[in-house]
Amino acid sequence: MTDLIWLNGEIIPMADARIGVEDRGFQFADGVYEVIRLYNSKPFTLNEHLARLHQSARGIGLSPPLSMEQLSREIHKLIAQSQAKEAMVYLQMTRGIAPRNHQFPDHPKPTLLFYTRPLPPVPPPGQASGVKLCAIPDERWKRCWIKSIALLPNILAKNHAISNGFDEAAFVEEGILSECSSSNLFAIVANTLVTAPAGPRVLPGITRAVLLDLASRAGLQVDERQLREQELQRADEVFITSTTREISWVSHYNQHSFASHCGPKTLKLHQALRARITDETAR
Ligand code: PDD
Repeated sequence: MTDLIWLNGEIIPMADARIGVEDRGFQFADGVYEVIRLYNSKPFTLNEHLARLHQSARGIGLSPPLSMEQLSREIHKLIAQSQAKEAMVYLQMTRGIAPRNHQFPDHPKPTLLFYTRPLPPVPPPGQASGVKLCAIPDERWKRCWIKSIALLPNILAKNHAISNGFDEAAFVEEGILSECSSSNLFAIVANTLVTAPAGPRVLPGITRAVLLDLASRAGLQVDERQLREQELQRADEVFITSTTREISWVSHYNQHSFASHCGPKTLKLHQALRARITDETAR
């Protein structure tokens, strides 16, 4: 794998990449991002990620410099040149360089970049230990559907969880769970898969959308609705999803312990996800 970056239209060595000090991404976190996973050099759900990127860009009033089709072609070009196989693509788009001013520049010239990083295959949930979730007050803004690079509350929550012996932070407001610091949260209650609706407090996760589809095909009821802490603690199985982790089963919520091993429905959903990945990336 060669260490290359696509930066504003050019593919160059990562070591040669330069971003101006007055880039609004650097000074204001004025930008959006995506993380796309590659399986054997093939991006999974690329169109869905690019559609969400455009939706996030619209959410902050930013016009992407490339159409989805152009961007897809350029991403494939970078993947081929960097020879990335089991990897992720990190993509970031900011409002570009302008003299520091809270007001948007009149004619912003977005900074667009993406590069690959190796990401080894994740062990299936049945072979991994469970994730311990720590509840954290949700102090984020109410536009979590925008995949903003302003991640300080998420980072602080994650590090609070880790420094207290947990693995991931689950955001809670008035007893209602939304999502985690970098993943979506699901509970299986009887034969129903419950997850909070995407919107002000929840990112429309791409893995989340795939999972909801797979679950209904597998005969599970799907219910996108508010999930309360008490209900989570009574759930049969709990898991979290993201592009980088696929599915991780949850063993603990604060001091409450769910199970000592991954539940059968979570395992089945993960198998269905793997089949979907193989089907899409083998094409
Ligand atoms: N984050 N919720 C939040 C707050 C996230 O940051 C993420 C992913 C998700 C899951 O979304 P998806 O299935 O589309 O990856 C939910 C990425 C992986 C990251 O920041 O690295």
